[in-house]
Amino acid sequence: MTQSPFRDDLFEGKTAFIAGGTSGINLGIARRYAELGAKVAVLGRNPEKAQAAAESIGDAAIALTADVRDYAAIRAAMEEARDRLGGFDIVVSGAAGNFLAPVLGMSANAFKAVVDIDLLGTFNVFRGCHDLLNLPGASLIAITAGQAEQAMAMQAHACAAKAGINQLVRTLALEWGPDVRVNGISPGPIGDTEGMARLAPDPKTRDAHYARIAMKRWGTVFEIAEAAVYLSSAAGNYVTGAILDVDGGSSIGDASRLDTGKGLA
Ligand code: NAP
Ligand code: COA
Repeated sequence: MTQSPFRDDLFEGKTAFIAGGTSGINLGIARRYAELGAKVAVLGRNPEKAQAAAESIGDAAIALTADVRDYAAIRAAMEEARDRLGGFDIVVSGAAGNFLAPVLGMSANAFKAVVDIDLLGTFNVFRGCHDLLNLPGASLIAITAGQAEQAMAMQAHACAAKAGINQLVRTLALEWGPDVRVNGISPGPIGDTEGMARLAPDPKTRDAHYARIAMKRWGTVFEIAEAAVYLSSAAGNYVTGAILDVDGGSSIGDASRLDTGKGLA
């Protein structure tokens, strides 16, 4: 594991609520907060998966079940987390749904499913948590994606949803400015995740993603977690309304013609 610059007790006495924290990148974020001393609540739809995720983190974690599309359910889960762990210093909204489909291969309900999980879900999580936050100084983080800025075929639902999330982040940063910092993290392609398995299911698509990465390697869950630690620690105290690309340079341009010193490919 890469050496971390953060102190082991950085989040001692803090509480974090992670929507979608029962697998993949968001579970990695929850685990990292707990390693640094925080109590964490992880939430997903599947109770067994949520329980296994909490147990994999240890005593500092509790498992909660709700669908982020259901405001009343997510609010009830947050109240339970507050009752068991205390008010929140950190809230992460990372639940997402995705599949490859062209617009003409997508029903209105298919488009709505992804927009509702990603965008409405993030609204519900952030709207629902506000009066449960420890103020001032709370940190909210939405997990967005490069599709927010870079249009991608077969991804109309996710492009629209993640673009909406970025504007929601900026709007909330304005409205809640003095007390709550609201930021986004935009991961690049992260190895061994459900997202990558769904969006790059074959070698040709994987190569196309890889070609865009300036750093010429996949990202890791740990690297996204470290970005979340930065944003929600005092190191990020003057950062709000930002979308932090943690993507090895995938979003800055076309790295597919990398000059290796032997002329352009
Ligand atoms: P993942 O393992 O599938 O994680 C998704 C999480 O969200 C799970 O905990 C899932 O649990 C939960 N979830 C899904 N729908 C939900 C709903 N309606 N209500 C509540 N919870 C729900 O995905 P991942 O690949 O790690 O991606 C995590 C985040 O990173 C997403 O926001 C994704 O867009 C973003 N991202 C990923 C990549 C990548 O390379 N993987 C790149 C850029 C951005 P249940 O299924 O039990 O509900
Ligand atoms: N292509 C086209 N349409 C699809 C599809 C695909 N691959 N997969 C699902 N759909 C459609 C369904 O047919 C349905 O539309 P319909 O009612 O017109 O038939 C609609 O999407 C909703 O599907 P449903 O399975 O009922 O939704 P759900 O709420 O149970 O699940 C998903 C949501 C579809 C996003 C599901 O893949 C999911 O739960 N994903 C979470 C994990 C994930 O995607 N992780 C990666 C994050 S980057």
